Amino acid sequence: MSGISQEDIERVREASDLVAIVGERIPLRQRGREFWCCCPFHNEKTPSFKIDPDRQLWHCFGCGEGGDVFGFVMKADGLPFPDAVRALAERAHIELSNSGNAGGIGSSEKARLLAVCKETAAFYHEQLMRSKTPEAQAARDYLSSRKLGGEVPNRWCLGFAPGRGELVRHLMSLGFKPDELVKANVAVQRDGRARDRFFNRVMFPIADAQGAYIAFGGRVIGTGEPKYLNSQETPLFHKSRVLYGLDKAKATMAATGTAIIVEGYTDVIGLHEAGITNAVATLGTALTMSHIRIISRHANKRIVYLFDGDAAGQRAADRALEFIDDSMTPEAGRMRVELFAVTLPDNLDPKEYVTANGGEALRNIIDTQAKPLLKYGIDRRLANADLSTAEGRSKAFSDAIAVLAPIKDSLLAKDYAKQIAGVVRMRETDALDALAHLRPPRRMGEGASENARPVYNPDFAPGQVQGASKLPPTELNRRRFEAQLLALVAQYPQLGLQHADALGDTRWHERVHEQLAARILEILADNPAAGAAQIVAGCAETVPIASRILTADTGTDEATADTMATYLADELAIGDMEDTVAEMNEQLKRDTALEDDERNLLFQSATALQRTIKDRRAAHRKTNFGIL
Ligand code: UTP
Ligand code: MN
Repeated sequence: MSGISQEDIERVREASDLVAIVGERIPLRQRGREFWCCCPFHNEKTPSFKIDPDRQLWHCFGCGEGGDVFGFVMKADGLPFPDAVRALAERAHIELSNSGNAGGIGSSEKARLLAVCKETAAFYHEQLMRSKTPEAQAARDYLSSRKLGGEVPNRWCLGFAPGRGELVRHLMSLGFKPDELVKANVAVQRDGRARDRFFNRVMFPIADAQGAYIAFGGRVIGTGEPKYLNSQETPLFHKSRVLYGLDKAKATMAATGTAIIVEGYTDVIGLHEAGITNAVATLGTALTMSHIRIISRHANKRIVYLFDGDAAGQRAADRALEFIDDSMTPEAGRMRVELFAVTLPDNLDPKEYVTANGGEALRNIIDTQAKPLLKYGIDRRLANADLSTAEGRSKAFSDAIAVLAPIKDSLLAKDYAKQIAGVVRMRETDALDALAHLRPPRRMGEGASENARPVYNPDFAPGQVQGASKLPPTELNRRRFEAQLLALVAQYPQLGLQHADALGDTRWHERVHEQLAARILEILADNPAAGAAQIVAGCAETVPIASRILTADTGTDEATADTMATYLADELAIGDMEDTVAEMNEQLKRDTALEDDERNLLFQSATALQRTIKDRRAAHRKTNFGIL
């Protein structure tokens, strides 16, 4: 009747939390399990509008209205039922399978870009399965040689990118416009024309949690650089929030409470094909707090990192140790999901391991050898040491005990310190003494420095910028903008919901800012109606200096807070783009192994991004409204 299938309606319902959706519009108050607010459908001063989060229903005792999430949006936005479903589908990035208009292409931009990605995945897949060119044959041979043949390309929609404008021609024939292809990043603009971005590569389409394709990873066939070419950030694709395989893994994650994190596309496929169906991968980036947040929505008990046995895997392991913080001690009892880690033997990656030994053997390793991240970190440092000499033992001790710095005051830390003392043959009292004298650092180990943000310096809080002379002015400003946005969001928490994207996406220049943003999102996810006091208190639980940053004077009031937050979020987004351009230029300069085609591509991308930045900056200056 509405042209939308019942199945789609249920998918949308499942992805649309009534509390979040009402909470985005009206301040909510929690009483017991239920949420209350003033009814938006009649005039009232005391709340009689109730939301039952378990049943996902609302009811107003004042006017007698009530219903489900669709009913709320219909009534609140004056929409007919199908439009309410579409609006919520768009909000949840769900593509409706038969939304009425030609070819299933919706009218909104996101729907268009999703359609571009869907058709692109289908085209590449068709090329892999059918094309008679020697290049496509080489792609098929390559996949078979990696034991990724048979049904695997079908199940994972693997593809082959022929390049030479074939994708662009195909998509244009379906009615897509060049700028849509460029926006979805399956094409790049060159000499005023859209050209295929991927060429002569095996293609791994990347899906969102609902299984809709939003981006691509392309692997060279055989050897070459870059080994994987991935989609850049697009309106659909935010790398720091996407996990490869999540759409297929989420059911097993929910059923077992456990998620397994591996490094690569082929690892995810290898594990799933071997029956380990709760594996996901980050897309060539370190795991971020927002990844952990997303995973813990599905797997609520355990996250197990499975590190490659090679050097790169070991660097990743060092980075993971950065996630140790005082919320992980039993005393804190707060961290709902526990982080575990295990390294594979013999220099193998997970795909190679299951191919050689089977899924059962890998499962056995995960079950018997994964250790709590903390213990893993300590053991790893002890294992790297030479315990046969006094100097070796002394170095091993200081390396290993440093892992405990973030939780130094906990009983758990004392336990581990005694264990370390045993291994390096030291008196327990000396170890406990050394533990007490550790300074809680913001980051740990040299391995971490590769990706680490500058350490927080409290002098950078807005309004107190003494001691900042060490930083160039632009960097100092950047950190003030960050601190100011966080303070605004904490003081006017509804802004946090509005700017959730900025909180999640910004590449914070201070580790403590990153932690605060993640924590604020967590608090708002648990309770969209959280007030300023709750946010500050909640942040202070995990970030000791939170209140100092979050309660700083933002120089704004209720009336200008929203404008200011928008301005700051925009500023940070533009700053991040500038960093990306700088990184691209750096790579162009430094990376002599780049092939002409890749070099061109990188150059084009940098130029295009530079243009976007210029436009955004110009528009941005105009919205300043004289508040800065
Ligand atoms: P690996 O080099 O371990 O790749 O990088 P892999 O998945 O084992 O691939 P095969 O087995 O050689 O085909 C791990 C992950 O890091 C990202 C990709 O997501 C890859 O799956 N990566 C790697 C990139 O994004 N770019 C690169 O150039 C290399
Ligand atoms: Mn690998």
